[in-house]
Amino acid sequence: MTDKIRAYIDEVEQFSTDKIEDIENFRIKFLGKKGILNDFFAEFKNVPNEQKKDFGKAVNELKESAQAKVESLKSSLETKLEDKGVYGDLTRPAEPIDIGARHPISIVKNQIINIFSNIGFNVSEGPEIENDWHNFTALNLPEYHPARDMQDTFFIQTNPEDILLRTHTSSVQVRYMEENKAPIRTISPGRVFRNEDISARSHCIFHQVEGLYIDKNVSFKDLKQTLIYFTTELFGKSKIRLRPSYFPFTEPSAEVDIYWGLQTETDYRITKGTGWLEIMGCGMVDPNVLKNCNIDPKEYTGFAFGMGIERIAMLLYQIGDIRMFYENDLRFLEQFKSSL
Ligand code: PHE
Repeated sequence: MTDKIRAYIDEVEQFSTDKIEDIENFRIKFLGKKGILNDFFAEFKNVPNEQKKDFGKAVNELKESAQAKVESLKSSLETKLEDKGVYGDLTRPAEPIDIGARHPISIVKNQIINIFSNIGFNVSEGPEIENDWHNFTALNLPEYHPARDMQDTFFIQTNPEDILLRTHTSSVQVRYMEENKAPIRTISPGRVFRNEDISARSHCIFHQVEGLYIDKNVSFKDLKQTLIYFTTELFGKSKIRLRPSYFPFTEPSAEVDIYWGLQTETDYRITKGTGWLEIMGCGMVDPNVLKNCNIDPKEYTGFAFGMGIERIAMLLYQIGDIRMFYENDLRFLEQFKSSL
């Protein structure tokens, strides 16, 4: 009889399943009302006295091992089900991560910075709220100079001193010259403000990158070569022309056009049928500006240039309305996801 019980104990120990029905059937078979264990308990009174001890011990062992087996199978099944509940199927493909997109202004700004940093320009930044000296006077635009009207200004305070929103990042170049000795090679990206009507082509807030190069014997030739390098890198176009112009802080001054071409209808529209596009202003730094910033104009010369980022981004991405940049419309911004 005890051998029979031992055989059942072996059976219990070897039993394994991950199905809830099988565990239940197993429990009924051994521990149920009409199960094997109850049969043995009923049998107990018929067992000869001298065997009762061993028999009882063996039956108890069977009972304990059957109970332990049911418990352990149930709990391992529960942890499995729980994992599924919390994490789902761990082998399923991951949910795609919704990455953001860089703003087109930032993309173009970074491209411009990269191009100039490859030829040794560093990046300088300054405050958006400026005083009169850094935005105008130091740049050869003394009080009442008519050229101040070229850039309609937002004033924050006019007495005792003019405090204003900078109209260009040339103000950063003044600060840079005041704080650093020549030679200087720096570009100044940043946001600028002009009191202008908002339309598809102009806005009262926009972004600029201005550049400044000061060293001994810097000539207009160096400026032109730098511009050709820049336009080739950014637009893949090296045909440029310089039109004489006027800026108070440069002499001589020029406006830079690149030959964009006339291949598509958009080319006709954006170049007004000429194929040429104006992209920036530039010139040789006026000796007065150098003097104002404690640089000796007899020893040093330099060139400067400045461009609007929006304008260039509109060209590169064929964006027809400058206001798109500031509306934060996701349908617009998401188109730049794949860019740098
Ligand atoms: N500061 C000028 C502007 O805002 C651009 C410029 C910079 C022109 C440097 C010449 C030289 O329009």
